[in-house]
Amino acid sequence: MLLLDGKIASQSVKDDLKKATQDLIEQGKRAPHLAAVLIGNNGASETYVASKVKSCSEIGFTSTLIRFNDSISEDELLQRIDELNNDDSIDGILVQLPLPKHINEGKIIDTIHPEKDVDGFHPMNVGRMVQGLETFIPATPYGIMLLMEHYDLQTKGKHAVVIGRSNIVGRPMSILLSSNLLYGNCTVTLAHRYSQDLHQITQQADIIIAAVGIPDFIKADMIKEGAIVIDVGITRVDDPTSPKGYRIKGDVDFVNVAKKASALSPVPGGVGPMTISGLMKNTMDAYIRRIAVPIHLKGDESVMKTNLRD
Ligand code: GUN
Repeated sequence: MLLLDGKIASQSVKDDLKKATQDLIEQGKRAPHLAAVLIGNNGASETYVASKVKSCSEIGFTSTLIRFNDSISEDELLQRIDELNNDDSIDGILVQLPLPKHINEGKIIDTIHPEKDVDGFHPMNVGRMVQGLETFIPATPYGIMLLMEHYDLQTKGKHAVVIGRSNIVGRPMSILLSSNLLYGNCTVTLAHRYSQDLHQITQQADIIIAAVGIPDFIKADMIKEGAIVIDVGITRVDDPTSPKGYRIKGDVDFVNVAKKASALSPVPGGVGPMTISGLMKNTMDAYIRRIAVPIHLKGDESVMKTNLRD
């Protein structure tokens, strides 16, 4: 069984970006700049944003963390995003989700300028992805594509079953896997909470992408021998023996599925680090498009630059 190690794969992406950033600085240019907006103090969001900021500093990107209290009004947040849109020194903006209930997520996403939308959530960028045009791919699906590239997993003509239809993971993943990309060209089934006979569907999958949010949801009897299984789950479960009081569990019953799968991503250390790499690549892309510097990054042609328009 091949362990799809996201720490190794993401380090390779980050090393590439670091080298490219050093080249930019040597040419007298400024570094790419990510602005991360965090509202409130949701523990998981704090952790994710902290690792995004940390990765920026490892690569040599500039980052600005902008924190607001839970009580910020929607209008004020919209105004602050507008300021970031108009700040020429900022290449990418991300607003960490979920947002407090009184703030309309759609309105916030619509307000981020599509050219700075490094999360790839703006409807214009989603539409561009569907049509196979150059865009920002949401970081988690992008990270999964980069993981598949790192391990050169063969996907063409295979049956991929994506479980979960969120805008952040499942739906864009299903679009990418069905697209004419080097690590795409799959026949795709997108399963969700109302799917009937899920066992029967997953048993036919050559590739399973599990983005359900239920620990150990995918059991060994749900997969076929030799399947590739990618675990997107990151649920915090109470664990008094851990210093933090919790640990992170994936959607896949790792120990038993590992006996049957040909390749499997662990949690933690699988898709999580790849998500950060996807975001970092998008930030570099945003910078390149805005500043129009010619730059060559490993993998640029292979993963996302194939002509999607068929
Ligand atoms: N919350 C969970 N995943 C994400 C993500 O990829 N981007 C943002 N902005 N918020 C998230």
